[in-house]
Amino acid sequence: TEAMLREIKDDLVDIARAAGQMMIDADHSVGDSDTKKNSSDRVTATDKAVEKMVQDRLTSTYPAFGFLGEEGFKTGDKLEDKPTFVCDPIDGTLNFIHGFPNTAVSLALTIEKKPFVGVVYNPFRGDLFTAIKWQGAFLTTATGLTRRLPLTTVPKPLPSLNEALVAVEWGSQRSGPNWALRTSMAQALMTDKEAGGAMVHSIRSNGSAALDFCYVAAGQIDMFWEGGCWVWDVCAGWVILEEAGGMVASANPGDWEPTLEGRLYLAVRGAKRAEQEDVVKQLWDMMGERKF
Ligand code: IPD
Repeated sequence: TEAMLREIKDDLVDIARAAGQMMIDADHSVGDSDTKKNSSDRVTATDKAVEKMVQDRLTSTYPAFGFLGEEGFKTGDKLEDKPTFVCDPIDGTLNFIHGFPNTAVSLALTIEKKPFVGVVYNPFRGDLFTAIKWQGAFLTTATGLTRRLPLTTVPKPLPSLNEALVAVEWGSQRSGPNWALRTSMAQALMTDKEAGGAMVHSIRSNGSAALDFCYVAAGQIDMFWEGGCWVWDVCAGWVILEEAGGMVASANPGDWEPTLEGRLYLAVRGAKRAEQEDVVKQLWDMMGERKF
């Protein structure tokens, strides 16, 4: 019910604020990070401590619900139909390690594999993004002011791809098909039209897919494209974006299994449906045979 979802959202906000305090208190300059697959794929003691706190609090309050977290994930784990909390304790771990303040805790509730509640909190900026399905998306800033998303009151027309500001992210792989896809897409987005590219206004890599979704929801970035991020990176941002009138295109809809194939995420900000569909088409045409 709506009241139940609101209660869950409030609990997720409390937990996100506690997680944020742990991130602020952590001395990330001591270099407590370990390498996962390679030197760009990192995990810190704080990632693990935050996930443990989140999981402990959620499983004691909601024992019947599932839990899927980035750090506890094991190959074969799947998002199930039952209500499930999805947690990325620190989205933007590399930013966190470097002290670049674009990093967030990302918490979501899914029901039948669809995100119903999303909370993304960046404690270093004090930005709290929240959404409940059918109840709108909101940003509460450090000053305590809450505004509905998108931040523009009159919907700005969505520009064609070549006038858009586009977020892209690099992930952690630095070779192989996924890397080839990311680099060739970034190059094609930036290249001059005469030379066959889309010549977008520019691309931005903020280092957190969860916050990219929120910036698109706010209308500050026109779209976000990434090939290969995981369910916990996008789940909370997904409902925040949709509730702000945005759309997520062709990211194996409904199939949330964190497998490598087909995880192509294109998030488009709020605008007229026809404008959104037009930029989606422009981008998919541009992708052509690029796959991984
Ligand atoms: C990563 C960040 C990064 C994106 C990766 C994500 P993490 O999340 O969002 O920007 O490129 O795909 O996995 O590892 O920092 O939680």
